[in-house]
Amino acid sequence: MTTLDDILIQAKRMVDPTLVEEKKILGIAEDVKQRVEDASIGNLTVHSVEIGGSVAIGTWLYDDVDVDIFVKFDSAISKKRLEDLGVKIGRDAFVPNESILRYSEHPYVEGFIDGIRVNIVACYDVPKGLWKSSADRSPYHTVFMKNRFDKSLKIETRLLKKFLKMVGLYGAEIQVQGFSGYVCEVLVLKYGSFISVLKAVSTLMGDEILSLNDVDEDVAKQFDTQLVILDPVDNHRNLGAAISPANVAAFIMASRSFLQNPSLSFFKGTSISKMTANVKKSPILDYLSVVIFQHEPRNADILWGQLHRSVNSLSKQMSKSGFNVLRTSVASDENSFSGFIFLLGSLTLPKSQIKIGPNVNMRDEVSRFLSSNRKWSKLMWVGHDQRIYVLGERRFLKVEDLLCSLLDDTVKESGVAPGLKRAIESGFEVISGKNIVKATVRQHWLVEALHRVVVTDEFSLG
Ligand code: CTP
Ligand code: MG
Repeated sequence: MTTLDDILIQAKRMVDPTLVEEKKILGIAEDVKQRVEDASIGNLTVHSVEIGGSVAIGTWLYDDVDVDIFVKFDSAISKKRLEDLGVKIGRDAFVPNESILRYSEHPYVEGFIDGIRVNIVACYDVPKGLWKSSADRSPYHTVFMKNRFDKSLKIETRLLKKFLKMVGLYGAEIQVQGFSGYVCEVLVLKYGSFISVLKAVSTLMGDEILSLNDVDEDVAKQFDTQLVILDPVDNHRNLGAAISPANVAAFIMASRSFLQNPSLSFFKGTSISKMTANVKKSPILDYLSVVIFQHEPRNADILWGQLHRSVNSLSKQMSKSGFNVLRTSVASDENSFSGFIFLLGSLTLPKSQIKIGPNVNMRDEVSRFLSSNRKWSKLMWVGHDQRIYVLGERRFLKVEDLLCSLLDDTVKESGVAPGLKRAIESGFEVISGKNIVKATVRQHWLVEALHRVVVTDEFSLG
């Protein structure tokens, strides 16, 4: 039998970078830092260029690493100038057209070198606590962690990051709302090891405040999330604010699950072929409808926001038309294909529909109700409860028809985010039930999203 220790030894082997990998990543980081310094020559507002984040601290994972370079600017320059200069210097550090703009609180530059993602982020060079932009804390995070992280804490953090990644809870981005790399570092520093973090998380009761320092009650009161994690370099910042309650719950469940049944599979995740097979055999497909469409590439952060807003509006419209929408999700290859996923009580509705109106003693409401329903009604009556009942027929019995109508004829009123309307107007596909399987062939982005919706999460509830 494999013991917990054996599993952890094997998992550590998986997450520990080789010397060649380490040399490559640190080499790229130094190279980009130099390029950014070269691009800043003559600009007196640039105080320094620093390697930050997990590469500086030593907690990166080779299969998902990004190199974060911070350009620290004089705090006297305006926000606009910080943004413009940051973007210009970042762009200049790459070959023309080989970088893109991304947005956090302000724009930053992302590029790839030897297949490795590199972020160049502008921030102000400010004394601790006198933050002018949210990126200003980052260099302090790096110094704080670097001073405290030895070889053991680095590997423990790598284990925690890998675990969270494989169970789908890693990353503070809006599409994940999970645990960031920095949160992992804070947790490992607080509890000392991967297993101690899991033990602590498995017993969370809600309303906890996790902090490395003593907690000031007045400060703590201002946070309203279930799980509060205080940023050790800024006790006024709650790192838990970026984590959704569902993801806190999923981490609690996954921790319990691993501690009860430790297995290397928590560090391996589920392969795409296994996900495809799971989706294919899921009985839940019979309650599923998917909309797929093509669009112009755009900033990923903006795209996810548009998809979420759109799926929420569509879901409201579907509910208004009588469909029981149980769960929604969005999917995207983050380039040119995206989709909406709807889990419904049923893909079809009965033809007849009843509307229950006001009590007869509400005279004005009753006449309004009658006049607005007269044309549609097949039958009207006064019920035992003295209310008006109207029986009519639904326009849309199949969810596909409703979705086509919402997206086709009235795309302007469907609530689809303005930035996606043109793309949807020029074409979309609605697929339901078992037909979805065909649509997912070779579409990894869709399989992953469908898997999350139609298969019980083996890591938290398995
Ligand atoms: N950061 C933060 N809060 C977040 C995300 C990022 O404060 N929600 C800051 C942290 O200072 C972090 C830095 O931005 O060190 C870099 O962010 P990111 O690359 O997302 O995290 P890493 O810690 O570098 O982890 P990864 O290995 O995933 O790159
Ligand atoms: Mg990083």
